[in-house]
Amino acid sequence: MTMQTNAVFEPGSTVGIIGGGQLGRMSAMAAAKLGYRVHILNPAPTSPAIEVSASATAGSYDDPAALEEFASRCDVITFEFENISAAGLSLLAKHRPVRPAGEILRVSQDRILEKTCLAEAGIALAPWKAVSGPQDLKSLEELGFPLILKTTRFGYDGKGQFRVESAEALSALTDLPYPLVAEKMIDFQRELSVMVVRGIDGTVRCFDTVENRHRDGILDVTLAPARIMPDVAEEAQAIAMKIAMELDLVGIMGVELFHGADGQLLVNEIAPRPHNSGHWTMDACLIDQFEMHIRAVTGLPLPPARRHSDAVMHNLVGPEDMARVAGILATDGASLHLYGKREARPGRKMGHVNTIFPRGALPGELALEGLLPPRG
Ligand SMILES: Nc1ncnc2c1ncn2[C@@H]1O[C@H](COP(=O)(O)OP(=O)(O)O)[C@@H](O)[C@H]1O
Ligand SMILES: [Mg+2]
Repeated sequence: MTMQTNAVFEPGSTVGIIGGGQLGRMSAMAAAKLGYRVHILNPAPTSPAIEVSASATAGSYDDPAALEEFASRCDVITFEFENISAAGLSLLAKHRPVRPAGEILRVSQDRILEKTCLAEAGIALAPWKAVSGPQDLKSLEELGFPLILKTTRFGYDGKGQFRVESAEALSALTDLPYPLVAEKMIDFQRELSVMVVRGIDGTVRCFDTVENRHRDGILDVTLAPARIMPDVAEEAQAIAMKIAMELDLVGIMGVELFHGADGQLLVNEIAPRPHNSGHWTMDACLIDQFEMHIRAVTGLPLPPARRHSDAVMHNLVGPEDMARVAGILATDGASLHLYGKREARPGRKMGHVNTIFPRGALPGELALEGLLPPRG
């Protein structure tokens, strides 16, 4: 028996969140705003999310005893951590509703399954091929070069990716971590994303389409809204809504897209949880992505995802960006969000900063550079 009911959980109920990182922290703060209690499942007894939540179960994501104890202390369960096993999720679903349902997570965890499902739903993707072993490498030449090889599971922030420039470079590859997925490198004008949320009654809401820029494989800056023609922004939202409906989403989901040099929109990947490229909503929308997610998961109404301001979001990554915090605190108009992580290792997301502007007044490229104190 699984518990996929349409039950509504009123404020005062306990929302269980699998994962104790910054997405869990900001979801927990949004839940607290609405009067919910939050219970976290996390391997370590302290974490960014645990520090702002009512209680926590410290235990492994695949320990049945920890999962049962966690479920017994929640009314409804969601996740910020995408790599809990399918077995773990189905065990949880025997006890409490899990939203979004485990099936979506199973799809988004595996790049091959994800691409297969999206393609079946008629969503345009970068040309791709599954690579189960060295015997499949030769056939990748059909995709053309450069191409990119990605591990099928556990990749994030560009980890587990290898760019291949030529047939010679391809044939020289050895000891790859199969299975892999190969994609043609897309010549994009820009990267876009859409946060889409769907409720238990099927209501679908979309935040505005935004533009994302990466640095060393990690999201660096989000511009909200994206500086693109309205028809492109709307097409991106229509794609995100279609995916949400096809996958029967309940909760929020990030959809990453490439806006090709030829104008075509191709979906890169989906993440059925709050997403770094939605952090701008915390200061530019009355109801942000985290509150929308909590509302969807608990069955509360979903108001339109309205943006009252334009915004620029800068991620703060590693010790280099933590050194800028004093300057950022002294910067007029900068809204700082820190995740409370004890140690600033290189490449680790430590916080982010939102700067907001009246609608239509997003700064130009030169002014963007000067919004925050420079990196040292
Ligand atoms: N097919 C591609 N063409 C061009 N750039 C790509 C492609 N795939 C990935 N990238 C670049 O690498 C980044 C990370 O890849 P992504 O598949 O989103 O993995 P992750 O799970 O690490 O976010 C993308 O945001 C994009 O900048
Ligand atoms: Mg990505």
